[in-house]
Amino acid sequence: MVQYLGAAALFSQLAAAAVPLYSNYEFNPLEHLGGNAPYFEPLDPQTDPAPPQGCSATRAAYLVRHAAIYANDFDYEEYLEPFMEKFQNNTGIDWSSIPSLSFLSSWSPPISDAEQELLTRVGKLEATQLGVSLSFRYNNFALPKRIWTSSAERTYESAKALVRGFEPAGQDNTIGLVSVYEADAGGANTLTPYSSCPEYSGSAGSEQSSVYLEKYTAPIMARLNDAAPAFNFTADDVYGMMEMCAYETVIRGSSPFCSLDLFRPDDWLGWEYTADVQYHYNVGYGSQVSGAVGFPWVNATANLLLADADDASVQDLYVSFTHRELPPMVLVALGLFNNSAFGGSEATINATMPSDTINYRRAWRSSHILPFLTNVAMEKLNCTGSYGYDDGEYYRVLVNNAPQPLPDCADGPGTTCSRAAFEEYLQQRGDMFSGYSAVCNTSAEYSNSTDVLTIYTETEGGNGTFVGKRAMWEQ
Ligand SMILES: *[C@@H]1O[C@H](CO)[C@@H](O)[C@H](O)[C@H]1NC(C)=O
Ligand SMILES: *[C@@H]1O[C@H](CO)[C@@H](O)[C@H](O)[C@H]1NC(C)=O
Ligand SMILES: *[C@@H]1O[C@H](CO)[C@@H](O)[C@H](O)[C@H]1NC(C)=O
Ligand SMILES: *[C@@H]1O[C@H](CO)[C@@H](O)[C@H](O)[C@H]1NC(C)=O
Ligand SMILES: *[C@@H]1O[C@H](CO)[C@@H](O)[C@H](O)[C@H]1NC(C)=O
Ligand SMILES: *[C@@H]1O[C@H](CO)[C@@H](O)[C@H](O)[C@H]1NC(C)=O
Ligand SMILES: *[C@@H]1O[C@H](CO)[C@@H](O)[C@H](O)[C@H]1NC(C)=O
Ligand SMILES: *[C@@H]1O[C@H](CO)[C@@H](O)[C@H](O)[C@H]1NC(C)=O
Ligand SMILES: *[C@@H]1O[C@H](CO)[C@@H](O)[C@H](O)[C@H]1NC(C)=O
Repeated sequence: MVQYLGAAALFSQLAAAAVPLYSNYEFNPLEHLGGNAPYFEPLDPQTDPAPPQGCSATRAAYLVRHAAIYANDFDYEEYLEPFMEKFQNNTGIDWSSIPSLSFLSSWSPPISDAEQELLTRVGKLEATQLGVSLSFRYNNFALPKRIWTSSAERTYESAKALVRGFEPAGQDNTIGLVSVYEADAGGANTLTPYSSCPEYSGSAGSEQSSVYLEKYTAPIMARLNDAAPAFNFTADDVYGMMEMCAYETVIRGSSPFCSLDLFRPDDWLGWEYTADVQYHYNVGYGSQVSGAVGFPWVNATANLLLADADDASVQDLYVSFTHRELPPMVLVALGLFNNSAFGGSEATINATMPSDTINYRRAWRSSHILPFLTNVAMEKLNCTGSYGYDDGEYYRVLVNNAPQPLPDCADGPGTTCSRAAFEEYLQQRGDMFSGYSAVCNTSAEYSNSTDVLTIYTETEGGNGTFVGKRAMWEQ
């Protein structure tokens, strides 16, 4: 019969036959966009976010990256602006005749120079939503007196949106927002301790990640240049167009660059791995300073949670806003998302992120670790009647709402551990990662460094300012 079928009919018959019986393959590029991913909860691992049986949270602390912005300056200057400019220069191309790129005949760039780094509407929504979500989750907690943010506009505005989402009706102006200056000489006592660490390099990882960038973009470039030779697509154009999917989505709500007809699932996985290699060397296990820069937050926060239940100077809930660098460094300090856990060693960690091949089994996934609004939480729980466990205090860590298994701290229900085990774990992590100033060699640049984060207990910073509700004349 086959010989009587036209080409189109034959193709559709083959295509239908190519879908195996049990295939339920789905792919959402927005969940593979590394540090540019709109907030989502990847369920990594798929542990239950609710407290274990018999337990309830009595104190919690959150470290949160700012929510979605128009574009960070590096991405803008390196990839987005060159692509947008080239697009605007190439007015002679008839995009409408090229199927996968026909949308470009009516597309206009979504970002201007002036908007870079500002929070988008989606960003405000994300942060407000987290405020509402925390208010539900901890509805038995006293309202926090203060929450903290690093001083940049995008972190401050995120914190403001969270406070507005959190404050109950009739209680506007009850939470003070404390702005912590992003000092270059602040030692460990800021929410941007990587900035004051001379041994941290913002460009670390670019060299290693460029290897996979060249590799995965080569066939895409060939395909696009076959369709539109006059544009002369480069590797950076391809990387930038895929980044555009992320940014245009958080600016306009959707983006034609996310279409799977333009970039297929494996193309997105190549983009994602390139980003993961970069972050591994920049703020992950491949950097020699990550753990030491992340530890002061871990130590300060754990000590707040460990404080006596009747210590009136301690809040029930702490929330602090920072930039993309700190949460992953905190994860290293905590030993989470470690590719070498359950095998391998400290020494072989770089081998888990080869430059020229995707390690699909890696734990270190930037899309799960540092999307916009990514958050790391520490909770203290009071457990009574958890079958098989003693009544008492337990501790756990969540990343984007997924409870995490802490290395060597697992003697409680679910992913929790007991107070004694948590204290010992904290001590162990401190043995590995204390000495911020020495590891960062701060004395090369300033002499008044400190190894501890004291913003939560000191009062010189004042009580912060109230943020009110959005006024009609506000942007
Ligand atoms: C766009 O055109 C302008 C003016 O000819 C030129 O200066 C600029 O380098 C071009 N930009 C790109 C990315 O091609
Ligand atoms: C060190 O001094 C500088 C300049 O006065 C200041 O900005 C910084 O916050 C100080 N660092 C610490 C850890 O106190
Ligand atoms: C295409 O772009 C590359 C990289 O910018 C450049 O080296 C090359 O000369 C360009 N080719 C053409 C035909 O313009
Ligand atoms: C990662 O896991 C390996 C193997 O368990 C361990 O030796 C190493 O110390 C861990 N790294 C950190 C920073 O916790
Ligand atoms: C991993 O690579 C980075 C960058 O080359 C290097 O600084 C670091 O020491 C390496 N880590 C290990 C454990 O070899
Ligand atoms: C823990 O929960 C039990 C049972 O609800 C309660 O009696 C006890 O006071 C709680 N302890 C703390 C420290 O909150
Ligand atoms: C941890 O924090 C406590 C309380 O601020 C401090 O006394 C201690 O020195 C810190 N530990 C390390 C290893 O930095
Ligand atoms: C610290 O910085 C100084 C001045 O730049 C330099 O001479 C020294 O070698 C550095 N020390 C370490 C341990 O990197
Ligand atoms: C902060 O608030 C406390 C009471 O909650 C008050 O005693 C203190 O004076 C306030 N500090 C400042 C600098 O306003």
